[in-house]
Order: sequence, then structure tokens, then C-alpha cells
Amino acid sequence: MMTRIIGTGSCAGESIVTNEDLAQIVETSDEWIRTRTGIRERRLTTELGTSGMAAEASMRACENAGIRPEELDLILLATSTPEYCFPNGACQIQAKIGAVNAAAFDISAACTGFVFALQTAHSFLVSGAFRTILVVGADDLSKTVDWKDRSTCVLFGDGAGAVVVKGDEKGSFHGIMKADGSRSQVLTCRARTEGNFRNGKTPELGYLHMDGQEVFKFAVKKVPECISQLLEEQQVEKEEIRYYILHQANERIIESVAKRLKEPLEKFPMNIQQYGNTSAATIPILLDEMNRAGKLNRGDQIVLSGFGGGLTWGAILMEW
Ligand code: UT7
Repeated sequence: MMTRIIGTGSCAGESIVTNEDLAQIVETSDEWIRTRTGIRERRLTTELGTSGMAAEASMRACENAGIRPEELDLILLATSTPEYCFPNGACQIQAKIGAVNAAAFDISAACTGFVFALQTAHSFLVSGAFRTILVVGADDLSKTVDWKDRSTCVLFGDGAGAVVVKGDEKGSFHGIMKADGSRSQVLTCRARTEGNFRNGKTPELGYLHMDGQEVFKFAVKKVPECISQLLEEQQVEKEEIRYYILHQANERIIESVAKRLKEPLEKFPMNIQQYGNTSAATIPILLDEMNRAGKLNRGDQIVLSGFGGGLTWGAILMEW
């Protein structure tokens, strides 16, 4: 049993914020942001939030798949920015779209979340536990960044992407999931875990903190390594891959991965220019744009690969 994507949808934050807009609030410039990251603008959510964007993307994915939300039997949401500790964000999506027959839970693996969630869905389809699964990547990181910190606030945007998956006797689906918790401190966002009536500490929510250069070095090493391992294990030649759909964190990271894999940059579609880094949402948003633009044909072999906080990273080789 293999896993096939039968529909896609996406929804970005409602408000466009350009590099020039950010130059009004921190000491930065359009030139610095464009040349160091490729980002020209990003979209921030004003009203929808994580669950609103996720629900909108999910409805569009169901429509695109030609199914009713009632036909879903599981919703997996990859997010680092759920609106509540509980209920989970997947339950919020379930209520908003009326997926009354679906179980629902979240997966937390930062920017790698969608790649981990899709592999989790695959395992459930193979086991026969569920038959029609909605996999969503959604994040609202604009609520976690320090808008006075130019080294992080220019990088991120808000958005959601969703896919509906089903089992298929034909096709192929293989994945790798990796983690290195010993390097967790290079990319963190502290939750409200301190302070109770005994210890006298005040509960505080932390801002997103990142050692950009360390994350950069980690990404350009681990992503090509992981993709090469996957292709080698499955005995698939690079020439057979139609597209590498990578987490959109930095145009220079994608260029470096292409170079290390010795593959042409044309095989690495990008939309970071318009959205910035939307964390767990980058890959499904890009998939949705490519699907709707008719760029994906049945039988195309594609590679998805993400990396981020944890540290976590992973890749999927699948047939469209
Ligand atoms: O989803 C996964 C999470 N994140 C990532 O994948 C991010 C990975 N890392 C990166 O993309 C890059 O490291 C950054 C884009 C974050 C930074 O680019 P960099 O080329 O590594 O720049 P840098 O941190 O070495 O900073 C260079 C200079 C510094 O000034 P000095 O010390 O050379 O005078 C920074 O203070 O650029 C300065 N700088 C800025 N200048 C203007 C840092 N941020 C800005 C800014 N505008 N926004």
C-alpha cells in the first residue's frame, strides 16, 4: 500500500508585509533581506490565526480532492504555534470544517513538521487504521518573534497548507525522519513552563531565538545527506526526480542543496520570495501552488525535504 496525495489547498496570512515595511520598524533594508534570504514580502495573519488559516487550507484541499469533510477519518496538524496547549489545533480544524468522523491530533517538529506528519499518515494508511487523512502544516510564527530583533523578525511569515491522502496499490512512498535533541538550543521558542505558587517564578513566554549561521550550516549538510541516503536506499537515480520541494527558509540554502546534490536549480521550485519562512506550512503551500498551476503530473517522482527546530530533518520520496 502506497500513499497518494489526492488534493491540496493553502491559505496565507491576510496582510502583506514588504521588506520596506520592516525597514520602518527595525534597522534593515530591502537589499539586505533580498540578498541574504531571497524574501521580498511575507504575509501575516491578523484575524485567522493558526486554526483559521489551517481550516481554510483544509476546505480547499477537500474541494480539490473532491471529497466532503465528513469523509475524513483523521486530521494531522503539524504546527509549533497552536492557539491552545489544549484542545489541540487539529480538533479546532475538525470543528471548523465539520469533519465529524475524524480523529484529530497535532504533531510538533517545527519546520520539519509537515514531512513528519505525512510520514505518520503513510504509516496509518499502511496499517489500515485510517483510510482518508487530512495532513496540514500551519504556523503563525509572527506571534512568537521579537519584532525588535532584526536577525529573526524579517525571516518569517504566517500560512497554512493542506493535503488529502489516500492509500493506493500503485505508486511509491518512502521516507526518512531524523532528530538531534542535543543541538536543540540553536533554534528555540520557550513555552510557559516556569512558575507555580511554590517556586516563586513568574511565568514568561519566550521569543523565538535562533543562531542563524548554525541552522544554515546544519541545513546545507543534513538535507542533501538525507536526500542522497533516501535515493540510494530506494535505488532511484537523481535523473528520475522531477522536483525537489524543500522547506522554504532561505533561497541560499536551497541553492546550496542543489549544488551539493549536483542537480539543476530548475528542479527546486521556490516561493519564499512571496511568503518568507512559514515553518510547517512552506512545503504544502508550495505543493498546492504547483498542483494548481498544473506543474505536477501523475507518475512524477518528487522529493520533499524539511529541516528545523529540534533539531529535526527528514525527506520523502513519493510519486505524484
Ligand atoms: O526554518 C529553519 C529556521 N531558519 C533558517 O533556516 C535560517 C538559517 N539561517 C539563515 O538563513 C541566515 O543565517 C540568516 C538569513 C538568518 C542570516 O544571514 P547571514 O548571512 O548568516 O548573516 P549573519 O547572521 O552572519 O549577519 C551578518 C550581518 C551582521 O552584522 P555584522 O556583525 O557583520 O556587522 C548582522 O548583525 O548582518 C547583520 N544583520 C542584519 N542587517 C540588516 C542581521 N540581520 C539583519 C537584518 N538587516 N535583518
